Order: sequence, then structure tokens, then C-alpha cells
Amino acid sequence: MTSAATLSPVRPRLLATWALAHGLPRVALKAASRRGDAIAGTAADPTIRADPFATYDRIREQGVIVHGKLLSATARHAVANEILRSDAFSVGPGDMGSPRLNRLMWRLVDSSVPGPIEPPSLLALDPPVHTRLRRPVSRVFTARAMNGLRPRIRELADELLDRVADQPRFDLIANYAKVLPLTMIAEILGVPERLSGPVQGFADSASQALDPGLSLRQYREVDAAVRQAHITIGQHIADLRRSPGTDLLSQLATMDGDDRLSDVELRATALLTIGAGFETTVNLIANAVVNLLAHPEQLAALRADPSGWENAVEEVLRYDSPVQVTLRSAKREVDVAGVRVRQGTPVLVILAGANRDPAVFDDPHRFDITRPNAREHLSFSAGVHFCVGAMLARLESAIALEALFERLPDLAIAGPPVRRGTRVLRGYDYLPVSSAVSARA
Ligand code: HEM
Repeated sequence: MTSAATLSPVRPRLLATWALAHGLPRVALKAASRRGDAIAGTAADPTIRADPFATYDRIREQGVIVHGKLLSATARHAVANEILRSDAFSVGPGDMGSPRLNRLMWRLVDSSVPGPIEPPSLLALDPPVHTRLRRPVSRVFTARAMNGLRPRIRELADELLDRVADQPRFDLIANYAKVLPLTMIAEILGVPERLSGPVQGFADSASQALDPGLSLRQYREVDAAVRQAHITIGQHIADLRRSPGTDLLSQLATMDGDDRLSDVELRATALLTIGAGFETTVNLIANAVVNLLAHPEQLAALRADPSGWENAVEEVLRYDSPVQVTLRSAKREVDVAGVRVRQGTPVLVILAGANRDPAVFDDPHRFDITRPNAREHLSFSAGVHFCVGAMLARLESAIALEALFERLPDLAIAGPPVRRGTRVLRGYDYLPVSSAVSARA
């Protein structure tokens, strides 16, 4: 994270963009939350962040789509699934707040250095532009290619566990849960180790940028990290154009003809894939460790029969979703499950709430690694934005968890974990663990 000391003075344009994109929504969300608006509360109330699931239940019970003061929301599985797959909905923010102020904000945003939810990031594009940019990325993350990575993931897990072998106590996030997916995504994209510092700084900031209502300080940190990341990755892409390798970035940088990505498209796609490639999987691994240690009988069952790891990962995705929510807006007036949604209405799609919908999952607040339909969760979204890296994330997590509990059979939480401050992403910044048994193989 960029420290306050390294931040340049506030530019008037940056201040204006922050005020429109975050400052005003921040005040409005807080005010609505204080007046009892549960949807605003999911973004603005720190007590809800610690345990959001009762609030998601309330929203689900209130209706198919609930209209809050600033935006609407659904926590129903069928409705979330329908919205995510519908071409009547866009990934744009819609008419949140004032349409005039929104237009002004988009004019002020510096489109030469887009963040993770600004076009041309895949997350902020609708078809057909989205289809063109996504195609070359999804070609690399096929099930076959990912399966081929199994031995490398296990080898890396073992290397990392060797490094903590002599430490009776260590932070699981920094030493394992984060570094494993970061190293894998860097290898797939061909990002050299010397760039991993700035790239990680970008991704840590970018994960904050997914949240609404950032403070001015947070916004400046995000802005500085995003600018630096564009410079770093831009220089690297220029090098690859001169001497390409076989990695994903080289393929993207040397595409010709109609498929050719512009410079800014290339930088945005690369940075999103890197950030999404580890800022989410770190949560899946850490959330799995915490939930499994809280349910020792289920962990014992996995030790006895490791074929259960894949379903255990699905249950963690369902029960403790690393990405809690996403946003869509109605492109036109549309009926969803019998409810009329006006054009421009922003709808918060509560993935983690859909994942606890009793209409789909029996006893949804129970953590159960043998749940037969755990995989029906919406944690990787659905429709055209379905996570490109779902297969990689599933594989990395199952292998990382199996290796961890095999090598450290007496692993235990060794102090209070620190939750991430983010709302959209749910996981931990710090997770101290201990083991008396050496992990040395
Ligand atoms: C547990 C791990 C992960 C979770 C929970 C997750 C979740 C998601 C979700 C919910 C979306 C769609 C958001 C929306 O519909 O608005 C998404 C999109 C995406 N994810 Fe993942 N992700 C994970 C891991 C990964 C990995 C390992 C990669 C590496 C390639 C990745 C790359 C992407 C990309 C590029 C997109 C944009 C796709 C598009 O908009 O078309 N993700 N992810």
C-alpha cells in the first residue's frame, strides 16, 4: 500500500472525481444506513461487515428485489442468477445518485489509466466489446490447461511450506495463502519476479477500489497505485512486443488484425487478470482454513478421505464467499420474477446472500463439506462475466489446502485474525497460525 508520505498533493481534478464517485455516495450511504436502509448498511455499517449474513437474510425476506434509498438489491438465488444472465442488465452503475453528476464524473475520470471497475476493464464492459477482449484471455484458462498445472501448484505449495518448516508460528496470509496464487498467476501471465512488488501494490489497492464510498485518502492511494501499475505493466508489454515469450501477456501483446488490443485495453486486461488472480483466491484459502479449524470433525473426514477436498472448496465458496456482491443496472424497463425494474435502476446482486437462500440450500447457515449441491453457489457469478479463473482458483485452493493440512497436521489459529477492511471482498489481512510439527517433507 502506498503510504501517505509518498502521495502527491491532491489535484483539483482528482478531488472532483473523488467527490462525485465516492464522497457524495459515502455521505448518502451512511445517512441511509443510519435511517435503517439494510442495503446501504451492507456498504456503510461496520457492524454488518463483521457478520453480514443476517442482513442478507432480511433483504431476501423483504422481497424478490428490494428497493432501497440509493439502489435496489436481491439476495434470492433464482433472481440473482436471472439478472446475471440477462442481456437486459449492464455492468454499468446505472442511475445511482444523479444521472447528471454521473455523466460529469465519467468526463473527469482519467480513462488512460483505468482501475479494475472502469472501462476497458472486463468487469466494466458489456458485449460486444466485452466479448472481443475476453476471448483471448479465456482461451488460456481452459480446464485442460489448468489441469496441466496440478504438479506445479503442488510443487509450489511444498516449497512454501518448506520455508515455514522451522517457524512454530507464522502469518498464513503473507507466507502461503497469498503468495501461492500470486506466484501462479505471475507465471501464467509471464510477469517477472522483479515486477511482483508494484503489481502486488496495485492489486492490494485495486481490491479496495471495488468498494463504494472510499475516503479521500483511500482514493488517493488507489489512484497512485493504479497509475504506477499502468506505467510498470506498460513498460513490460513494450519489452514483450520486442521479444515475446509463450506466456499469456506475450500472446495478448502480439495479436494482429481485428483482434488486436489497444494499449490501454491490454494494460487494463493484464492488470485485472493479475489482481483477480490472487486477491480473491487468497480469501478462499484463508476462509477455508478458518472454517475447517472451527469444524475439526469435518477436517478429520477430509484427512481420512482426501477425495472430499473438491467439494469442501465448493462449500467454502458457498458459505464464506470471497466475493460478496456485484452490481448490475437495468438497460431498459424489464420484469424480473414478476417485479418491474425501471431503466437505469442499479441492483446490488448479493452473491453471498443467494448462496444462503433456503430455497436452494437446506439449512443454509450450516457449514457442511458433504453438501450435495454446494457447487450451485454463485460465487463465481454467472452469464458472460462468469469468472475466467474459476477452474484455476478451485484447483489452487484444493491443492494448497490438502498440502497444508497434510504437512502440518496440528495446525491451529495462534491469535486473533485480522479481517480485510473491504466490503466486496471477504477474507483476512492477517491470520496467525501455529504448528508444533515441522512441515519439512
Ligand atoms: C476464489 C477465487 C475467485 C473468485 C471468488 C472470483 C470471483 C469472480 C467473480 C464473482 C467475477 C464476476 C464479477 C461480476 O459478474 O460482476 C469474476 C470475474 C473475473 N475473474 Fe474471478 N474469481 C476468483 C479467482 C480468479 C482467478 C484465479 C482469476 C485468474 C485468471 C480470475 C479472473 C477473473 C477475470 C479476468 C474476471 C472478469 C471476467 C469478465 O468480466 O468477463 N478470477 N471473478
